[in-house]
Amino acid sequence: MTYQEAKAKLTEIGQDQILTFYQYLKSDEQAALLSQIEHTDFSYLKELSHRDRPLKRGTITPIRAMQQGEITENQASFEAVGLKEIRAGHLGLVLLAGGMGTRLGSKGPKGTFNIGETRDVYIFQRLIENILTQVERAGVWIHLFIMTSEKNDQETRHFFASHSFFGYRSEYIHFFKQEMAPIVSDEGKVLLETPSRIAVSPNGNGGWFASMDRAGLTKLLHQEDILWLNVFAVDNVLQNIADPAFLGAVISRHCASGSKVVRKVNRDEKVGVMCLEDGRPSVIEYMEMTDEMLDQKDESGDPAYNFGVILNYLFSVPELERIAKGILPVHFAFKKAAYTDQDGNTLAPDEPNAWKFEYFILDMVHELGTCLPYEVDREREFAPIKNLHGPDSVDTARALCRKNSIVL
Ligand code: UD1
Repeated sequence: MTYQEAKAKLTEIGQDQILTFYQYLKSDEQAALLSQIEHTDFSYLKELSHRDRPLKRGTITPIRAMQQGEITENQASFEAVGLKEIRAGHLGLVLLAGGMGTRLGSKGPKGTFNIGETRDVYIFQRLIENILTQVERAGVWIHLFIMTSEKNDQETRHFFASHSFFGYRSEYIHFFKQEMAPIVSDEGKVLLETPSRIAVSPNGNGGWFASMDRAGLTKLLHQEDILWLNVFAVDNVLQNIADPAFLGAVISRHCASGSKVVRKVNRDEKVGVMCLEDGRPSVIEYMEMTDEMLDQKDESGDPAYNFGVILNYLFSVPELERIAKGILPVHFAFKKAAYTDQDGNTLAPDEPNAWKFEYFILDMVHELGTCLPYEVDREREFAPIKNLHGPDSVDTARALCRKNSIVL
């Protein structure tokens, strides 16, 4: 893209402040900025006019989860169905590791955080060890797709390679980068991170399938006949990934998706919960829950919205391909973002100053139309690391690992 083309494109959308410092940049910086302008998706900006209006939700009602008793009764048949699919190569795995992990206070990718006490135990290592358990059981390797972002891609790839992929067959690991979205001031102007770079942030964990497609990986899914994807978060060091019983249950119940859920530990636990929205399965985030919903009880006196999602989903690939592209709603968050002021100084604000745009994976559940909420034992499968200390922290995850006989 030439300077004139960039200028015309930006003027048309009222964003030519992006070129404020262009004439003072070195030629390689100029080229990098023009390339970034060419490749940035500015269509997010249209969404900003809705920023003060919460996303419109349909009518929310409780959903029934498949609970542990029912799972135990059917364990053998679910496992048989799931193992058959895994052995046929129909399952692939997607690790969502594009997030920034800033809450841990470490600069590197979240998965490189070491939770070990007497030896090194990295978050990525724990996840790979968990997958290896199922690989050994099934006797086949399973393709693992790892989503990174522009901010952590190189470091993540390097980390895996320098640890020999923690014993995983490297031909079965495929990295891909998620898209980035521009960061915008409250006045609707795209910010510059430096005089030669547009400020961008990862576009949320809901963009993973579109990003896989853009990276050419859906071709591999077809070639390998991968029909199911088990998508999971980087931060839960205890999760059972490639779980044959979960896969078997979702297939047996003819669902297009499945979501592992845990019984909430208390009324205000910060997890999204499964529900029905206008009669279709959906996930409602904790901040969207009203007091009335939080206090509502079911016929047995239990909380009506009691099943929190742990961000471990199964999706049918043909069904994912069926849902129209660009159908997911865009969510906005007002957050802190470093930016360059009119004089070319880069500032790091103490207070939120800018809008970031994100797609959420949980919106895919609603779009797919059918979902099996599948209850798992939180003591054995849910040790999320969001913070260093307190709830959902390195401390609580370590305690749960110890309970599960994992040497740290
Ligand atoms: C998430 C879920 C929440 C669930 C909780 C369980 C969403 C929106 N929220 O909350 O429903 O109850 O986990 O622990 O799904 N990520 C990317 N790219 C991004 C942003 C995030 O790959 O642009 C990845 C992160 O690396 C992480 C996962 O998505 O693996 C979760 O992201 P985060 O935004 O931290 O969601 P939570 O608040 O933890």
